[in-house]
Amino acid sequence: MNYRGPLRVRIDEKPDPEILHPEDAIVRVTRACICGSDIHLYNGLVPDTRVGETFGHEFVGVVEEVGPEVQRLKVGDSVLVPFNIACGKCIFCKQGLYGNCHEANPQATAVGGIYGYSHTAGGYNGGQAEYVRVPYADVGPVVIPEGMDLDDAVLLTDVVPTGYQAAEMGGIQKGDTVVVFGAGPIGIMAARCAWLFGAGRVIVIDKLEYRLDFVRNYAPCEAYNYEELGDPVMFIKKTTDWMGADVCIDAVGADATGRAYHSITGRAMVQAGAATALRWAINGVKKGGVVSIVGVYGPTDNLVPIGNVLNKGITIRANQTSVKRLLPKLIDHVQKGILNPKAMITHRIPLEDVSDAYRMFSSKLDNCIKPVLIPPSAAM
Ligand SMILES: NC(=O)c1ccc[n+]([C@@H]2O[C@H](COP(=O)([O-])OP(=O)(O)OC[C@H]3O[C@@H](n4cnc5c(N)ncnc54)[C@H](O)[C@@H]3O)[C@@H](O)[C@H]2O)c1
Ligand SMILES: [Zn+2]
Ligand SMILES: [Zn+2]
Repeated sequence: MNYRGPLRVRIDEKPDPEILHPEDAIVRVTRACICGSDIHLYNGLVPDTRVGETFGHEFVGVVEEVGPEVQRLKVGDSVLVPFNIACGKCIFCKQGLYGNCHEANPQATAVGGIYGYSHTAGGYNGGQAEYVRVPYADVGPVVIPEGMDLDDAVLLTDVVPTGYQAAEMGGIQKGDTVVVFGAGPIGIMAARCAWLFGAGRVIVIDKLEYRLDFVRNYAPCEAYNYEELGDPVMFIKKTTDWMGADVCIDAVGADATGRAYHSITGRAMVQAGAATALRWAINGVKKGGVVSIVGVYGPTDNLVPIGNVLNKGITIRANQTSVKRLLPKLIDHVQKGILNPKAMITHRIPLEDVSDAYRMFSSKLDNCIKPVLIPPSAAM
């Protein structure tokens, strides 16, 4: 695919990627998902997203070629590739902070490298393509276990670990009330995982009825439409004996709707996106509670009620997900049937139709939860 500017992506012939470093591999893509994070790029909210870039940080494929220093991966391996590009050796990678690698994106002080996620995240091309260059090939990619469905595998590159880490960062204690903002794939998975950490009550808030219906059954949990609730913060207070939730999770990020003022100033780049869900999370959590942010925001200004964070003594935890750290446990959860990620895939779309796929997913048409793109060389 080829990014042509905000709200415009199309399919184009591009030169095949090449090995540029001895630790690179070239992977032939067999499945690539579109993620809510791609919608921030598509809407033009991520700085330094350049015309001509290939998006796509959620992909699986077959190793076609390896550089001379690659030892672990072999040509022909079927691999799932974490969305973070990480060196595995720097001070951050050594702590398991693979989303904050210092080598893969040396120009930046914040985020590490991410496939297909603008020059802010290192300027790497992504996997919504037939072939992709995979740097540090011995670090990130994991050979897909025998018998695992590729649709499950592709969701292990981001959605499953991100939903899980959202719940993990919430520091959920037994019996806690957890409120998740956003019923996209990430919020759905966060709600499901909240139970694994001992939540006593899980509430999801969104406005798309079809997603609320899905998460009610899938997590399972309570789910409410914020357009019907009026003020979601007041609803949370009422339903928690006026205490507030123990943990609030922001699984929405910069493209939040719900408050015209935030949306207008967010989209007009006065802020780096609209922090509506984050405001609701901060104002809806109890004093001393935890707000876990996985929703992605641009790196610059947002209208965040920081005074309330201080006065309530809230702990805020946030990060890009450290996929590699979580994979061993989450592969096991999928194999044991504790998590069933592929149930979220609602649309299988040929890669050639990428531009329709973006339009559908970004506008939430046709009851779409998660679309997967299939390149011509891979079987549907
Ligand atoms: N931290 C990470 O590593 C990481 C990884 C993957 C995705 N993400 C981020 O997670 C977020 C969710 O991703 P997704 O794929 O589920 O996206 P998505 O676009 O499918 O879902 C977002 C959902 O939020 C809902 N929403 C909008 N405004 C809301 C509001 N004010 N309150 C409640 N719900 C609201 C939308 O209706 C939609 O259903 C995105 O910001 C994405 O960038 C972060
Ligand atoms: Zn993603
Ligand atoms: Zn590193």
